[in-house]
Amino acid sequence: MNASMEANNALESNPFLVRGHSDFQVTRLLNGNIRKLSNSKNMVRLKAQCQKQKNFISNNSVFIVCPVLNEFESPEVYGFEMPFCRGEVAPEYIDRASPFEVRGFIYQLIALLESFIAESELRHIDAEVIWGKSADVREQIRGNVNVSPSVLDLIDQHIAIVKLHSNFELPIGKCHGDLTLSNIIFDDFNDRYFLIDFLDTYIDSPLLDLVKISQETRLLWTSKFMHQTHDSAKYQIVMNVLESEVQKHFSKYKWYKKYQSIFEFQNLIRLLPYASDHLIIEAIVKRLHLLITA
Ligand SMILES: Nc1ncnc2c1ncn2[C@@H]1O[C@H](COP(=O)(O)OP(=O)(O)OP(=O)(O)O)[C@@H](O)[C@H]1O
Ligand SMILES: [Mg+2]
Repeated sequence: MNASMEANNALESNPFLVRGHSDFQVTRLLNGNIRKLSNSKNMVRLKAQCQKQKNFISNNSVFIVCPVLNEFESPEVYGFEMPFCRGEVAPEYIDRASPFEVRGFIYQLIALLESFIAESELRHIDAEVIWGKSADVREQIRGNVNVSPSVLDLIDQHIAIVKLHSNFELPIGKCHGDLTLSNIIFDDFNDRYFLIDFLDTYIDSPLLDLVKISQETRLLWTSKFMHQTHDSAKYQIVMNVLESEVQKHFSKYKWYKKYQSIFEFQNLIRLLPYASDHLIIEAIVKRLHLLITA
């Protein structure tokens, strides 16, 4: 029995088993469906997430958006139900798949991101929108005792770099919002991948999805959070290939070449207000140093 079958069986026998790392509750119900629940504090965020998932149209036939079946709401709680998408999680998939299959997935992922770009249009975004977001995040990080205050100096340097621009010409229109590998369920036996866990972002730019991919390739994000045993050397090689293929492909866009590192930096600081694992914080801060000195 593989790890996902074991996990699925565990979920089926215990309808209240919680999965996920956010503060939402993800449960497999006895009817087989998945239910995602908020509490009164994070209700607005989950509602926006569900709205995005409901309205999201994938024009790429191998990436299927997990549909929303129903929503429910009371003053204290909001939630929605989805069908269970059967498949593997990223570390299992990468462990099992052949190099040929993994390359196939990488090209499909690039095609998905290209379709987001095709559905977006180039717009000028005021630099204040970008540095204002980083400044808000800086304030939130001050409340996290696990993060060293020296990170705030790095953020000040990043904000100063953003302020050198008056505006940013970016593709705006379509993005998943949290396109880490943990939000893709791999069903490549049926040549399809399910997209789950959408995020309502402050700007809807495919560049935000591209820097989420860097979060995976540079920090091995999903592999760090999912505790399936897997071949870590193979995982690292696949992430290196993913990084170089993405860079090779998207460098044709001026906005990617010019702004990738600024947005990669901003994406990483957005993880810090909630971070508690010291190894993860250390990995993020190390990457922030590299990005700011590059
Ligand atoms: N519709 C679904 N079908 C199958 N598995 C699902 C489904 N929705 C969620 N899961 C599983 O539950 C995990 C957590 O779900 P999700 O990513 O939506 O929650 P989250 O709380 O936002 O988690 P995280 O912060 O880890 O991204 C997923 O990584 C996936 O393995
Ligand atoms: Mg998730």
